[in-house]
Amino acid sequence: MIYLDNAATSFPKPPEVTKAIARFLAEAAANPGRGGHRMAVNAERMLDDVRAKIARLVNGSDPSRVIFTLSCTDALNIAIKGVLPDERMHVVTTVLEHNSVSRPLQGLVDAGRVELTRIGCDGQGFVDPDDVRRALRPDTRLVVMTHVSNVLGTIQDVAAVGAIVREHGALFCIDAAQSAGVVPIDVAALHADLVAFPGHKALLGPTGTGILYVGERCPPPGRKLGSDPVDTTFRPWREGGTGGDSSSPTQPPIYPYYLEGGTPNTVGIAGLSAALDYVLAAGSEAMLAHERRLLERILARLDGDERFTVYGPRDTARRVGALSINIAGLDPNDAAAILDDGFGIAVRAGLHCAPYCHRALGTFPAGTLRISPGPFTTDDDITALIDALGQVAEAAL
Ligand SMILES: Cc1ncc(COP(=O)(O)O)c(C=O)c1O
Repeated sequence: MIYLDNAATSFPKPPEVTKAIARFLAEAAANPGRGGHRMAVNAERMLDDVRAKIARLVNGSDPSRVIFTLSCTDALNIAIKGVLPDERMHVVTTVLEHNSVSRPLQGLVDAGRVELTRIGCDGQGFVDPDDVRRALRPDTRLVVMTHVSNVLGTIQDVAAVGAIVREHGALFCIDAAQSAGVVPIDVAALHADLVAFPGHKALLGPTGTGILYVGERCPPPGRKLGSDPVDTTFRPWREGGTGGDSSSPTQPPIYPYYLEGGTPNTVGIAGLSAALDYVLAAGSEAMLAHERRLLERILARLDGDERFTVYGPRDTARRVGALSINIAGLDPNDAAAILDDGFGIAVRAGLHCAPYCHRALGTFPAGTLRISPGPFTTDDDITALIDALGQVAEAAL
């Protein structure tokens, strides 16, 4: 199988990840607990080690603000539902969002807790930061937006948006699902208060891992930290055991435990640890350059061929390795099925959980065919894809 669905989850994982998972599971998979036996303390230490690596990755000041989650969706739910108070507040988001942002927000709209402004994008798939500025209101509590569109691969100017949101005094939450691992994330430079990302995409970790980084302006109850705290009460979305002090009747107001009820996915996090080492050694820049070079080859083949529609900018410097196309006369779902059955090529078709983006592009409801190479995609894989696309387009005429 030629796997070109890395935007959904990366495959294959580096062999070191598989080995680390097997080793941890066979030798060290105790339930972490600060007050427990040696194995439990060591499992907790492993988690702390990974928190420190993640904090360095995003230039976060405090590893205890690295919250382990099950996925990016889980992290976004904790963030969005956690920082919005009971009284109705205004929230700004964009048409580029994945359903893991759009659906929790719609749920809050339906519950009468949120008034939502969804801003658009230009024809290439970029949000104008000035549109965010114009959407802000005195009662705007939160702006949530994606760093990179999962449909178009377009890298958004979140630094400019962050500066605008910070000046206004609202909270800024970034969905870094498609950027973490390939595009630098600096929570301070981006003025990000909450950053959610998966471990299983470009960070090359296993599924079942995700991260929420919680900035200083989102303190747990009773602890107003930082120079410019917003008056929030961050409410935990998931409550339960924390492996430490059990005497408190409610979730202890200390990060990371405040937001981490229940046994964490230690096995997956052990794999994520090895994945982070791999990504840091390989270098995000080199991995992104590899993806862009492969995209460039695909685009060069599609350029000027009227049987193909390419969405988003031609300039690969403005993208990560995700490309949406359509083939004339063919539903993208059928095209993906033909590529799978006839050529052994795995790509993703449809709406990619981002219906508002497709409405903006004019590709709703069928969607697009999304091709997303990864760090282990070879030139031969791309040659096979290009050849297959030509044959499929020819047959569709
Ligand atoms: C932009 C974006 N946000 C959020 C998610 C959800 O990530 P997860 O599958 O880890 O829940 C995805 C997954 O594809 C995504 O592309």
